[in-house]
Amino acid sequence: MTGASRGLGRSMALALARAGAALVLAARSKPDLEETARLVAGGGGRAVVVPTDVSSYPEVEALMQRAVAALGRLDIVVNYSGVARVVPLADATPEDWRYMLDVNLTGVFNGCRAAAPHLIPRRAGKVINVASVLAAVGLPGYALYAATKGGVIALTRALGVEWARHGIQVNAIAPGWFVTDMNEAAFADPGIRERLTRDIPARRTGHAEEIGPLAVYLASAASDFMTGQTIFLDGGHSAA
Ligand SMILES: NC(=O)c1ccc[n+]([C@@H]2O[C@H](COP(=O)([O-])OP(=O)(O)OC[C@H]3O[C@@H](n4cnc5c(N)ncnc54)[C@H](OP(=O)(O)O)[C@@H]3O)[C@@H](O)[C@H]2O)c1
Repeated sequence: MTGASRGLGRSMALALARAGAALVLAARSKPDLEETARLVAGGGGRAVVVPTDVSSYPEVEALMQRAVAALGRLDIVVNYSGVARVVPLADATPEDWRYMLDVNLTGVFNGCRAAAPHLIPRRAGKVINVASVLAAVGLPGYALYAATKGGVIALTRALGVEWARHGIQVNAIAPGWFVTDMNEAAFADPGIRERLTRDIPARRTGHAEEIGPLAVYLASAASDFMTGQTIFLDGGHSAA
């Protein structure tokens, strides 16, 4: 899984490990990945660390090969890396746009494409991508981010249909607001915090531990009849 070095990805890694998955943990920061691996091992799980930049196809291809070499086979692919540069579109640079696309959308393509030769011949597999509530509701400053996450939803839907014939399920989780490194600055501002929680019917932000059970469901045989879907875990934000 990518995005495993901190935040929601780390919480998901711990939940998958508790459910019995042996993990290959990827993101760029080796020390942070090693901390996740230490936490997994502390709970009795097994995790291998492979620092990877998801925007590089050769690195993601090497990651999949390392995973198969280390664990014997690939059952589950979690594409959870993501970045958010919050900037009004009129101030954004082409470099901002390219960076967000490269990590958030190309990163998911890279994970799916590089996993294909390991999953398709086995006629089984689970792919879990990460989208966002901001692909469904607009928020000033997030147009670039929203576009990348909308792309993830479309990719997930189409690939779910394309890979159904191979027995592989492709789904996405669209988190609402969870306080992590990514949005700590926004939530530090009481005005923004008040506005964001006002928009959430549950009137609170998510807890990182609330992501894990959904990931375990999407990674398990319990979800074999679900594919191409994006599940919003957002306290009702996208439904309101
Ligand atoms: N927090 C929320 O409220 C929220 C809401 C909706 C969606 N999401 C999505 O959930 C995912 C995790 O977000 P988070 O809140 O947990 O953010 P976070 O704490 O900032 O974590 C982001 C993760 O992505 C990794 N990453 C960033 N750039 C990368 C790259 N080029 N290559 C490989 N890995 C990279 C980071 O690791 P390194 O820096 O070590 O590479 C880290 O593991 C993201 O896709 C985000 O868009 C979050």
